Amino acid sequence: MERVLVTGACGQLGSELSIALAAHHGKENIIVSDIHGPIPLVSNMVFEQLDVLDSQSLEAIVDRHGVTQIYHLAALLSAKGEQNPQLAWKLNMDGLLNVLECARKHKLKKVFWPSSIAAFGSNTPSINTPQICTMDPNTVYGISKLAGELWCNYYHQQYQLDVRSVRFPGLISYKSPPGGGTTDYAIDIFHSALQKKEFVCFLKEDTQLPMMFMPDAIKATLELMQAPAENISVRTSYNISAIDFTPQQLAAEISKHIENFAIKYLPDYRQEIAASWPQSLDDKQARFDWSWEPQHDLSSMTVEMIRNLSLVISENPTL
Ligand code: SER
Repeated sequence: MERVLVTGACGQLGSELSIALAAHHGKENIIVSDIHGPIPLVSNMVFEQLDVLDSQSLEAIVDRHGVTQIYHLAALLSAKGEQNPQLAWKLNMDGLLNVLECARKHKLKKVFWPSSIAAFGSNTPSINTPQICTMDPNTVYGISKLAGELWCNYYHQQYQLDVRSVRFPGLISYKSPPGGGTTDYAIDIFHSALQKKEFVCFLKEDTQLPMMFMPDAIKATLELMQAPAENISVRTSYNISAIDFTPQQLAAEISKHIENFAIKYLPDYRQEIAASWPQSLDDKQARFDWSWEPQHDLSSMTVEMIRNLSLVISENPTL
């Protein structure tokens, strides 16, 4: 029987992943933790207040609950990280090292940690970005992800820790709000389209980025973690890809469902971050090693976002 600790469980990915893990392992076996919270989405699971920089508290929780796996999601995202680079580095790097050390000392069975397309940079081939290529990130978030990938690989090689990772594209979801990412325009646009029929985009109209609907991100995480260890040939982090689009293409898709939707472009500092990231990823290694395959395209994701977000907004108009 597995006992699973999720850090950052009140965040955009953490909350939905915790629910999926509860369905898989039984909710009594999931310990959700966050520096804030708990939030309603995860309030029916065991909650521990945890700052991942506090390694003693982390280890105490692992001991107390007999934890066998950690999904480590607590981090500061790209745009927010640029406003506080020192904190982003400390939280993202020391947090990961605390988790890896804890997993090594307590001989945990598995660790999941998400990397990101932000680990790539301006000299990375931007179309169909290969699994292995030049990586020169220009945000603290991206630097922490690239360094984190290498630390994961190190812990696997030196200590045989079964740590697994994917490079997530921008994640699009409606259940809980995102926090401080460059790709978050692709969520804000739905809120704004439904509430005001207009949107001011902080990226240029033709900035293509890799994106993914949350159910596919959850599917990728669960499938990677269930794959036999001998199939996992990448111990840094896997490229995974689903939907690549520009703000203009997304707006056109939304316009099919929301009449008279208007978009304006007012690029800010996040444009430069987005311009250094890939436009599309080559994910054939993930497809080969653990049969990765996304289920949602731009059109099905847009339909689901509009349908579900309309319900969320009608139940909670202040969102
Ligand atoms: N969605 C993240 C961000 O924009 C990228 O991993 O920061």
